Amino acid sequence: MTQFEQWTQPEPLWREDTSLSSYEPLKEDTSAEVAVIGGGITGITTAYLLAKTGRKVILLEADRLINGTSGHTTAKVTAQHGLIYHELIKHFGEESASLYYQAQTKALQTMKEWVDKYNIACDWAEEDAFLFATTSKGALKLDKEYEAYQKLDIPGGTGNELPFSMDAEKTLRMRNQARFHPVKYLKAIAEEFVRLGGEIYEQTKAVDVTEKDRLEIKTGGGSVVSCEKMVSCSHFPFYDGKGLYFSRMYAERSYVIAVEPEREVPEGMYLSIDEPKRSIRTAEYNGKNVLIIGGESHKTGQGIDTSFHYRALEEFAAVTFGIRKKLFQWSAQDLTTLDKVPYIGPITRKNDRIFIATGFRKWGMTNGTLAAQLITDYVCGETSLFHELFKPSRFKSDPSMKQFISQNFDVAAHLVEGKVELVEDKPNRLKKGEGMVVQWKGQRAGAFRDEEGQLHVLDTTCTHLGCEVEWNSAEHSWDCPCHGSRFSYDGSVMEGPADQPLLRIAIDNHAELPFQNLDDADRPQDTP
Ligand code: FES
Repeated sequence: MTQFEQWTQPEPLWREDTSLSSYEPLKEDTSAEVAVIGGGITGITTAYLLAKTGRKVILLEADRLINGTSGHTTAKVTAQHGLIYHELIKHFGEESASLYYQAQTKALQTMKEWVDKYNIACDWAEEDAFLFATTSKGALKLDKEYEAYQKLDIPGGTGNELPFSMDAEKTLRMRNQARFHPVKYLKAIAEEFVRLGGEIYEQTKAVDVTEKDRLEIKTGGGSVVSCEKMVSCSHFPFYDGKGLYFSRMYAERSYVIAVEPEREVPEGMYLSIDEPKRSIRTAEYNGKNVLIIGGESHKTGQGIDTSFHYRALEEFAAVTFGIRKKLFQWSAQDLTTLDKVPYIGPITRKNDRIFIATGFRKWGMTNGTLAAQLITDYVCGETSLFHELFKPSRFKSDPSMKQFISQNFDVAAHLVEGKVELVEDKPNRLKKGEGMVVQWKGQRAGAFRDEEGQLHVLDTTCTHLGCEVEWNSAEHSWDCPCHGSRFSYDGSVMEGPADQPLLRIAIDNHAELPFQNLDDADRPQDTP
C-alpha cells in the first residue's frame, strides 16, 4: 500500500467556489400555504414548482442550502440506477417498470429544459451511462438487465470493452443521460424560487408538527410555522406521522474522491456491478477535466475503519488512471426502501396534508426532481400517472415482506449485540482526534478526545430506539447501524431519525484521567 498523504480538501468538489447566497434563520412565527422542509434538490425544486403555481411557500433548512445529500452526490443525472429494471419487471410487472423509466426520463428532460431556459451554467453535459461487469456472473446479470431494456424500449446496447485500463466481461449502455454541477444548478433554481416570492430560512430546523386545523411546525429556535400543507424533503423524515419510516428503510454510507488523473479521462459515466463497486464520471474543475470516483458502500455504522474506504478508492484511481493530484474527498449517506422504489406522496394513506419524499438510494438527482413534480401535483389536487407506483403506502408482499423481516432481524441483532459486546477499557489512552467504544465504570460508552485534549464521553445507546452506535473514525461521528442516525462527537444529532442527542456522561477530566495530558510518545502501550 502506498503512503497516503493528506487530501487537499475534505469537502465535496461542488461546495468550492460557488457563491451561494445565505439566508437568515426564522426568528418569529409565520404562516404560509405550503412549508417545504429541506434545502436539497427535492426541497428547492418542490418549493420552486409550488411557487410557480402562485402559492405562498416557505422553505426551511436545518443547516445551509445544498449541504446535505444533494451537496455530496456524484451528480449523475440518469435513469440507469444500477441493476434495477429486470428486478422491477419481476416484482412489479412490465407496466410499472416502464413507468419507473418514464418518470426518471421525464425528470431528466425537465432539468435539461430548465438549464436551457434559465441559461444555467452548471457544466451540464449529455453523456451515455454504462454498467460494467468484470466477472462472468456479473455478465449474466447484465444480460438479464439488457433483456429488460429491450422489453421496456430503453435505448442502449451491450459491449465488452472499457475506455480505460480495466478488463470488462460485459458493458451495458443507456443512451443520452447527463452529468452536471449540482450546486451551480440548484443555486439558480433557489434564486428563481425567491424571485417568485418564496422565502428561504437557513439554520432553521423543523423539529415537530402538530396537526390541528392548520399544521403547526415547531422549529428548534422556538418559532412556529402555520401552514395548510407540508412537504418533508429532509432526507430521513424529521416527522414520522405514524408512517414507521425507520422500519421501512435502511441507511448506507458511501465514499467519493476527486482527482486530477495522469491519463486521459474517458467520456461517459460508468458504474461497476461487481464488488467492490466503483462509480466513475468526469467533471470540470479549474479548466481541467478531473475524475470523480465513488464506491465502498456499507450500511451505516457497520463499516470497517472508514479511512480504509478512501484509501481503497485512491488505490483504484492510481491503478486505473494514475493520479497527478488529489483534490477532494467526501462521503454521503443514502436511504433505500424495502423495494428500492422511493417513497413519494402522502405520509400515510389518509393524510392529505403532509407529503414525503425519501428513499432515493443513490439516485437523488432524477428522483428528487421527480418527487418535486409528483408532490406539486398532489398539492394542486392533480392526478399523475406515476403517483401509484411511488406512493409510500403501497404494499407488495413480495419482496417487501421478505426484506422487511430480514432488515428488522438485522436491527434486532444490533439492539442485542451492542449491549453485550466486549469493549476496550482505557478511554484515558486515547490520542487527540481519536475515538472508540470504551468501558466506562462498567458501562459501554463512546469516548473521543478533541484537539485540545478534552475527553468527550457519551452513552452509546441511540436515542431513537436503543441500538448501540459505532465510531466513524473518518468523520468523527457516532453512527447507528439500525436506522442510520448519526451523532457528532459531542452527542448532538447530525442525521435522524433520532431527534435527541446522545446522553453525555459527566467526567472529571483531572481527577479521573491521569494520562490525559501526555503526548503520544508518553502514552502507555495498550496490552494486546
Ligand atoms: Fe434507530 Fe438508532 S437510528 S435505533
